[in-house]
Amino acid sequence: MSNHQRTNSPAPSDAVVSAKGAARARSGHPWIYRSDVTQKPKAESGAIVRVVDHRGRFIARAHYGKESEITLRLISKNDVEIDREFWLTRLRAAAEWRKRVVSDTDAYRLVHAEGDLLPGLIIDRYGDCFVLQTLTRGMDALKAMWVELLVAEFQPRLIVERNDAKVRQLEGLPMINSLLHGEAPHEFPITENGIRFQVDLLEGQKTGAFLDQRENRAAAMRYARGRGLDCFSFHGSFALHLAGGCERVAAIDISAPAIERARRNAELNEIANVEFIEANVFDLLRDYDDAGERFDTIALDPPAFAKNRGAVEAALRGYKEINLRALRLLNPGGVLITCSCSYHVNEELFLGMLAEAARDANRAVQIVEKRTQSRDHPILLTAPETYYLKCVVLRTMD
Ligand SMILES: C[S@@+](CC[C@H](N)C(=O)[O-])C[C@H]1O[C@@H](n2cnc3c(N)ncnc32)[C@H](O)[C@@H]1O
Repeated sequence: MSNHQRTNSPAPSDAVVSAKGAARARSGHPWIYRSDVTQKPKAESGAIVRVVDHRGRFIARAHYGKESEITLRLISKNDVEIDREFWLTRLRAAAEWRKRVVSDTDAYRLVHAEGDLLPGLIIDRYGDCFVLQTLTRGMDALKAMWVELLVAEFQPRLIVERNDAKVRQLEGLPMINSLLHGEAPHEFPITENGIRFQVDLLEGQKTGAFLDQRENRAAAMRYARGRGLDCFSFHGSFALHLAGGCERVAAIDISAPAIERARRNAELNEIANVEFIEANVFDLLRDYDDAGERFDTIALDPPAFAKNRGAVEAALRGYKEINLRALRLLNPGGVLITCSCSYHVNEELFLGMLAEAARDANRAVQIVEKRTQSRDHPILLTAPETYYLKCVVLRTMD
């Protein structure tokens, strides 16, 4: 008898979900919220449980996290054993995909959580060093296994855990940064699109670098010309990509350590036409505008302005301000590469905001490209939350 036909009383170890929860799971979404769990499983938080509907029909195997609003994270729609072999198969599938889509760097995301059907697990690869984030109870309970699998598959020099992501607090998990394997230095250079960047896996922002923008930085390189401006530069990422095509570039970040690192990255690449400025982008764009400065290529890659739904309106005001100013600063024919990594500001809201900014700047603007996160950060079609990064390339026409 197939799983779909079986109707049984749910076992005490099963998680029973409401009709709404069942429908959501069957639509392909990997999360079930606490409010849709009608019978909590008799299981430890972090355990793998069977998820069934009120008639006992099997829906999925899932990680159970009783502390989290997202109480069940679906792992498999098949009623199979979730063992080391199962996880290894998923890890290998993720690695195979990267072999196909990553060729321009030694630093990329090997596992992108729900996007790779590995909910709550992030693994970033920096050459022969790996950074692990276990963001849910279930994945955290498997940390030792993931280290063992990475050692067996890739023979890494170093594995670091960057479990300082705030989302762990929602799962009742502690903040930890530590060395899990190896003892090599955690600061070393990586190469992306032919440019070298010094990364610090234990101390740097994110897991050391913003890997999700790699393909967008390569795109920006193709548009670079004239006078360039990289706003929210971090360690010089877009600026150093623009430097080859631009006569000169200004790179701005509010963080002194980021600007210092950016300067050192320019030296590492013997790039001399980039000026690094520690400043607040909001203030500096206004000052440039007041002073009548003009640019030909601008990148805007701010941090997420909307961390939750309630913050969307304020975030849109912030996005509009910087985009309006950037559009005003562009010479005719100038290109703006503008990004938002706020999931809550979706593509429609982002494009709407850009249209308003163009209108208020009184510029005719073309959309040259609509882009998203690099392909090593896959988007699961049925989980909109996995599509968070918008990158739009615009061109001013007048
Ligand atoms: C999303 S990251 C930028 C990533 C970078 N563009 C890259 O591709 O690697 C955002 C950066 O903005 C900086 N930042 C945040 N608020 C800022 C502000 N008001 N003015 C200037 N920089 C800011 C942070 O220090 C951080 O480095």
